[in-house]
Amino acid sequence: MSLREKVSSWVQGLRHGRRLETDGMVHLETLGLAAEERRNYGPSGWKTIDRLARRVPLGPGDVFVDYGCGKGRIVYLAALHPVARVVGVELSPDLAAVARRNLEVAASRLRCRDVRIEVSDALAWPVPDDLTIAFFYSPFTGRLFEGVVENLRRSVERAPRGLWIVHQRLADSHDRHPAVLCSRHLEGLDWLEAVDRVPNGPAILECFRARAYAGATSTTGSGVRDTKPS
Ligand SMILES: C[S@@+](CC[C@H](N)C(=O)[O-])C[C@H]1O[C@@H](n2cnc3c(N)ncnc32)[C@H](O)[C@@H]1O
Repeated sequence: MSLREKVSSWVQGLRHGRRLETDGMVHLETLGLAAEERRNYGPSGWKTIDRLARRVPLGPGDVFVDYGCGKGRIVYLAALHPVARVVGVELSPDLAAVARRNLEVAASRLRCRDVRIEVSDALAWPVPDDLTIAFFYSPFTGRLFEGVVENLRRSVERAPRGLWIVHQRLADSHDRHPAVLCSRHLEGLDWLEAVDRVPNGPAILECFRARAYAGATSTTGSGVRDTKPS
């Protein structure tokens, strides 16, 4: 991360984070939840949703889901936008409890009035058929990731609509890194179209959308907005 990025991230942390507890790594072993394809907790950068919102609409018709929400930083940042609903799905009841506390502390700042944290393994969590933006910051990999993406595809098949999948991973990972293999998996799915890759500090936000809706123009309900880099 450049010095400018570090300073900017620190300022954003002060702005949003003074009363929120979202920092730090939490290893799933310490919670008795470690398993091969599950990844540990570590938060996204504070600017993630600002950057994403330049590419992906976050409007009143949108339902945003953070798969593996941890302490809820992304849920909080998404709920600053006037979306219909934000849901965080988290495996760990302990991390989910921290996320709920954070959302209580921040409640007066949120523009979204329907914000929920659900404790579940992401694979077992039924995809709501109004979900329009699925966000993944490397929460899990391999068959687990592929299974959750397949659940998203089935939901769009059941209830056709615009759908974005945003996959965040570290930009400099080697080719066989499990998170890179998740990127390759998304790129290989014929129902998805890769729209944009947005730099986000040391990470990259890979934005995909369901192909059937590539021509949509609305800015709500995950219609497609101009995605030129700013
Ligand atoms: C890298 S953190 C991302 C946290 C948050 N989304 C963010 O961007 O700030 C990954 C999270 O995924 C959760 N996780 C791992 N496996 C999971 C599973 N099978 N179902 C739900 N959550 C899971 C972990 O507990 C952890 O909180």
